[in-house]
Amino acid sequence: MEINGYTRIAAVVAKPIKHSLSPFIHNLAFENLDENGVYLAFEVLESDLQAVISNIKILDMYGINLSMPYKEAAISYVDELSEVAKLTAAINTIVNRDGKLFGTSTDGAGFFKSLTDFSVKDSDITIIGAGGAARAIIAEAALRGAHKITVYNRTYKPDLFKNYPGNIVFKPLSALSELAGDLLVNTTSVGMDGVSMPISQDLQLPVNMLVADVIYKPIETPLLKFAKTKGNRTINGLGMLLYQAAESFELWTGKHMPTELILQKLEEKIY
Ligand code: ATR
Repeated sequence: MEINGYTRIAAVVAKPIKHSLSPFIHNLAFENLDENGVYLAFEVLESDLQAVISNIKILDMYGINLSMPYKEAAISYVDELSEVAKLTAAINTIVNRDGKLFGTSTDGAGFFKSLTDFSVKDSDITIIGAGGAARAIIAEAALRGAHKITVYNRTYKPDLFKNYPGNIVFKPLSALSELAGDLLVNTTSVGMDGVSMPISQDLQLPVNMLVADVIYKPIETPLLKFAKTKGNRTINGLGMLLYQAAESFELWTGKHMPTELILQKLEEKIY
């Protein structure tokens, strides 16, 4: 698609951002769908965030993605928030709806889309970690009617989920002595080094528990290797990266991102 007078812009705004894979993902989608758009990465100062967001309207952009450390600060500058965004008080996507800015997070929806053959409704979910990624996943799971969500975190912050709907139990990670449920998710950075595990190897994994990690590099964290040797189904974080982008892209353009093709290109690029 040639860049011309009709080309519209989407972008990711963060600091740092130069190594982001989002431009790669979104520009493949624009090209493949013949959608006249381009996706850029802007590294900006926090003091300029409000001005940057006001440019979405001024320049009639599709919208933007936000990454660290601006997911929380950005909520003050949009006109409307999704239910997920209200719960987590953080957004990764702003959509320009005819000059009104709608803020939401696609991280949780993207995560659940990446799990093939998993139904959130009535499921029992165990989450390791309570940071930004965890909160997005937990909010989405609670809104979709998960039966029970148990959160284990290194630091005990029992008030973190008090406004969330549903049945959420918060425990210190040191209290994790038994794993139960349909899904285990590691949302911490433990395992990125390729050697450490967020949970003890002495724990029994229920046979039907799907084990997911938000980490996508290495391709298989020690947790996923461990789960695989026990015969459990596993999934790494690459799908979450792709599908959170796909959800944002669809909100901006109304079009489905060609995720199969992009997943293949992403795998070639990363692994
Ligand atoms: P993200 O946005 O990627 O979720 P974050 O908001 O910085 O990142 O959250 C990191 C999460 O990983 C937190 O839950 C953190 O636990 P604390 O609340 O105790 O800091 C968890 N985490 C990071 N390093 C960890 C480690 N070595 N062991 C256990 N948990 C860890």
